[in-house]
Amino acid sequence: MKKLYVEDVKKLPEGSEATLLGWVRSKRSHGGLLFIDLRDSTGIIQVTIRRGEVPDGSFEYVARLRRESAIKVSGVVKHDPRAPDGVELRCRSIEVIGESLDDFPIRKGIKIKFLLDNRHLHIRSPRVTAIMKIRAALLKAARRWFEENGFIEINCPSFITAAVEGGATLFKLDYFGREAYLTQSSQFYQEAAIYSLEKVYSIQPSFRAELSRTRRHLTEFWHLEAEIAYAELEDLLEVIENLFYAMVEGVCEQAEKELNLLGVKLDPDVAKPPYPRITYAEALEILRRKGFDVKWGDDFGADEERELSKEFEKPFFVTHWARESKAFYHMPDPADPRVCKNADLLTPGGYGEVVGGGQRIHDYNQLIERIREAGLNPEDYKWYLDLRKYGSVPHSGFGLGIERMLWWMLKLPHIRDACLFPRTPARVYP
Ligand code: 4AD
Ligand code: MG
Repeated sequence: MKKLYVEDVKKLPEGSEATLLGWVRSKRSHGGLLFIDLRDSTGIIQVTIRRGEVPDGSFEYVARLRRESAIKVSGVVKHDPRAPDGVELRCRSIEVIGESLDDFPIRKGIKIKFLLDNRHLHIRSPRVTAIMKIRAALLKAARRWFEENGFIEINCPSFITAAVEGGATLFKLDYFGREAYLTQSSQFYQEAAIYSLEKVYSIQPSFRAELSRTRRHLTEFWHLEAEIAYAELEDLLEVIENLFYAMVEGVCEQAEKELNLLGVKLDPDVAKPPYPRITYAEALEILRRKGFDVKWGDDFGADEERELSKEFEKPFFVTHWARESKAFYHMPDPADPRVCKNADLLTPGGYGEVVGGGQRIHDYNQLIERIREAGLNPEDYKWYLDLRKYGSVPHSGFGLGIERMLWWMLKLPHIRDACLFPRTPARVYP
């Protein structure tokens, strides 16, 4: 197994001997001198190979090597200000582990479609590598926050039988002759779990048969969801703010190098609570002033969210949505039954919704009534209704789209850039 990585070698004192395993990212030659940029998971180091300093024949062999060939290089560490990061490895011997059989097809200036068709190769790029490390740092920070705050991680099924977020975006499938769907959200299972675990979260894929070809929709995305017994809307907003901040902070702490590589300036203060809060009614006013024809009861589309979110410099909550604008499980506000005790968190600068959540109806009869009002059949929600029959308590929860958050944090051109292998209406390959 490999023990020494590029970043370790860069820290070794001048004159140390080191052996590195990695891939040829690029190669340049100057007469009797060859430069290889050797890439591994931790970074890139310059390897210099001089004719006469390596065994006979290997200079010519290496000079012919194609990009992305896997090699093993042994040499001596040299500190040289001309080398990237001031360190290079002076090659003494080189061995080819896996030769590239063809010219590596990913080059500068290549079209996006080609890159997506060849995503399995493109993910080797420093840019994608950095994004994936930031993604890992984001998830790690989230898990750490949940751990510190007494939440239990659970795992929920992906095959389900009733819609959480409406029938329009359900992926239908044949489950041994009966109809089933891919889950849109783990919310209902989390609601079941709070009766034993009280504060739960899960991080797993959700699916939406969403044909909208926007820059913020995936058909499969990673959904971070949490559900809290005895929490009301106010409590929930605080949880969301604190978690969101911890996630941004965690990325700034753990992925500074990757943020720099992407040229992203992320100031954790931008996500420092408290976040501004406006009601749905106030959001409608702002949108109408901006010339949008939005009616009471409409949910906001990408255009509305983008324009609204340009008005803010921090993430902000839109609370108390019209009851007809969101799913049936949201708790109508006793102070104004036209709206529900729910909230979306929108990110600033035109990015829009990253979190959706709210307080759930915990009364049995009220839930049946709202299911009917939404044109659904209470029979389809039998087990979910059961939860209101045995010791039901007030509770609240939310869902956060991991890729949406990265899209905003890293100012990515498209949400698919936040995925290793994105799934969109047009793409299930590779
Ligand atoms: O607002 P949504 O639909 O809410 C729910 O699914 C709730 N049941 C969650 C809960 O309360 N437990 O989705 C939550 C978040 C959105 O705010 C968004 O960030 C992300 O999931 N999301 C998507 N991300 C990428 N592509 C899509 N098609 C997405 N749909 C939702
Ligand atoms: Mg939503």
